[in-house]
Amino acid sequence: MRSPTSSWTLWSATLLLSSPASAINFLRSRQLGNNSFDWTSITPTPDLQYHPCYDGTFQCARLQLPLDYSKAGPPGKPYLTNNTQQQQHAAIAIVTLPATVPPTDPSYAGPVLINPGGPSGSGTSMALAAGTTIRNLLDVPGERHYDIVGFDPRGVAFSTPSASCYATEFDRAVNALQEQGLPSVVTEQGLWVHFEASRALGALCEETTGGDGVFRHMSTASVARDMLEIVERMYELQKGVNGMGKRSAGEKPRLQYLGFSYGTYLGNTFASMFPDRVGRMVVDGVVDGDDYTAGAGQKNVNDAEAEIDIFYNICFDAGDACPLRDSQDTSAADIRARVTALLQTLRETPVAAVYNGRVYIVSSYLISETIRQALYTPIPSFAPLAQALAESLAGNFTRVLSNPGVMLSNQRSDVCTEPPVTSPPQQYTFSSEVTSGVVCGDSQASAGTRDFAWATSAVPALLNQSVTVGEAWARIPLACADWPFTPPYAFRGPFGSAAPPVTNTTASSAGRAPLLILSSRTDPATPLDNAFALSRLHGGSAVVVQESAGHTALFSSVSNCTLGIVREYFASGKVPANGTVCEAECAPGIPYQECPGLPQFY
Ligand SMILES: *[C@@H]1O[C@H](CO)[C@@H](O)[C@H](O)[C@H]1NC(C)=O
Ligand SMILES: *[C@@H]1O[C@H](CO)[C@@H](O)[C@H](O)[C@H]1NC(C)=O
Ligand SMILES: *[C@@H]1O[C@H](CO)[C@@H](O)[C@H](O)[C@H]1NC(C)=O
Ligand SMILES: *[C@@H]1O[C@H](CO)[C@@H](O)[C@H](O)[C@H]1NC(C)=O
Ligand SMILES: *[C@@H]1O[C@H](CO)[C@@H](O)[C@H](O)[C@H]1NC(C)=O
Ligand SMILES: *[C@@H]1O[C@H](CO)[C@@H](O)[C@H](O)[C@H]1NC(C)=O
Ligand SMILES: *[C@@H]1O[C@H](CO)[C@@H](O)[C@H](O)[C@H]1NC(C)=O
Repeated sequence: MRSPTSSWTLWSATLLLSSPASAINFLRSRQLGNNSFDWTSITPTPDLQYHPCYDGTFQCARLQLPLDYSKAGPPGKPYLTNNTQQQQHAAIAIVTLPATVPPTDPSYAGPVLINPGGPSGSGTSMALAAGTTIRNLLDVPGERHYDIVGFDPRGVAFSTPSASCYATEFDRAVNALQEQGLPSVVTEQGLWVHFEASRALGALCEETTGGDGVFRHMSTASVARDMLEIVERMYELQKGVNGMGKRSAGEKPRLQYLGFSYGTYLGNTFASMFPDRVGRMVVDGVVDGDDYTAGAGQKNVNDAEAEIDIFYNICFDAGDACPLRDSQDTSAADIRARVTALLQTLRETPVAAVYNGRVYIVSSYLISETIRQALYTPIPSFAPLAQALAESLAGNFTRVLSNPGVMLSNQRSDVCTEPPVTSPPQQYTFSSEVTSGVVCGDSQASAGTRDFAWATSAVPALLNQSVTVGEAWARIPLACADWPFTPPYAFRGPFGSAAPPVTNTTASSAGRAPLLILSSRTDPATPLDNAFALSRLHGGSAVVVQESAGHTALFSSVSNCTLGIVREYFASGKVPANGTVCEAECAPGIPYQECPGLPQFY
């Protein structure tokens, strides 16, 4: 059993609480529902073959790559051993928004690969929803023009084989509803039941996909290697032009990359495995590599309560405009006390609520998860969060139960269809299995025995870090209890890379650049300390701290300063002074205050 949700979208720049901004619905439907392109119409090929797709402004491909890199040839030549026939393959779904100039144009600046995080996030969806925004951000008109390349990491969305464990969507929905009614992990019995459910899900995935299927081959190392192959194939397709300046004979094409959240771990892995293949790399909202592979999530929610205090203070200062504020409140602490008490009550005594023709159990998890998700994008989410919590305190749970981010199963109308396993799906419904596949596989070798004793120490530590959202976060490491798959192709550190060699700085586009690391000041899932820790590992890198609250810099607010630094970095490869602070143009408000230019991808 697994939460239906995207709680399993751990570290991605997603907006999940219903929001006043109308763009969100459009983007959500693009991702979840309206897949107007039939991916089965493309046959996977080992070379990159593009097909016009979606509304015709995009190019789609399915790139065939080895499923098991531990049995493949070296980077750039995965099929050197010429056993293509016998080998199992992955087909990586790619959506490219082409540059506004052809590759032969002197201002063509090459492909930029993007990753939205997750690890279940779909890069193809991000390219569709945000490709134009990103291209506009990076392009320097007349001087530099980029392709924006979204790909679905192995197992995800339209890449195949699908990391899907259920034979039918009906089975998935039934398990989701069953999980919905389980007691809180904060109680002893709840922890045990969740632990057991996680063990059983691993067993189910092994039963349905086999011991040597996609779940054994979706480590982040494999995804990093896929990125290298994508760069190579693009370079071949463009006949040796990739915009990273003229290179001397024998020099290899380099990755240009923009990764958010879990995508920072993917970037860190790539830069550590293939340091001389980094051209440009911007990572935003940093996951700590060593903590992530240790498998207990101890460097994630450390700053969450600080952001929750920001929320309560905004609410208190808003007076009557904040529905969560009571006329008798004398400080924000009074608001906090009421919400904490609600969580406490629901932990011990969950209640039932009727919603949408069904009976639901409302546990503390539902409230904790609602808050956790809202913290990612406070500008659009704080006002609806205040409303949802006020109604919940009054015993009306309609709004939290209608939040599609928390209760994805509410929206499902396709429970009688069969999920595809080897051909691309019409809809992406298996993100929770994807997350387990990546997170549990990546941590499998270093996390130790994830037995019940381990669970009983990991969960209280998270609650100790964040009394409000620690409970919701705890389900993530817990999902890896007794995970049966150990990837044969993995990278387990040490993370890091030496500073790039000093190059001719007047030849602005040349060569390899150090990492540019972004973070918001108060991030509820990837604390700022992680950004500095990553910088220590990668020579020449620099951290930019954006004065905003929320998950990642670029999605938590708009900052001309941050955007200018990113554009300049892609053009010249130069990073600003390490520790540069950027002011943000907008802050969250109650009532909702618009933030022109704030990107919202899902
Ligand atoms: C799906 O997307 C296509 C192309 O963007 C559009 O023409 C169509 O109206 C959309 N359908 C729905 C049901 O939203
Ligand atoms: C490659 O293929 C050829 C002919 O099919 C075969 O003789 C050779 O052994 C293969 N090489 C490897 C490394 O598998
Ligand atoms: C509960 O809240 C919803 C809005 O979320 C509202 O439409 C509904 O009328 C409320 N129900 C009651 C019984 O007050
Ligand atoms: C709880 O947090 C405090 C302060 O950070 C720390 O000293 C203590 O060891 C933590 N307890 C547990 C059980 O993690
Ligand atoms: C550095 O690059 C500039 C611009 O491409 C070029 O004119 C100059 O000769 C280069 N200097 C060296 C030392 O290579
Ligand atoms: C950037 O600053 C942080 C915090 O001062 C430091 O720990 C890190 O080593 C610096 N990065 C580099 C590459 O020097
Ligand atoms: C940020 O940039 C936009 C567009 O260039 C401009 O309209 C706006 O005034 C700038 N804001 C600040 C605070 O500089």
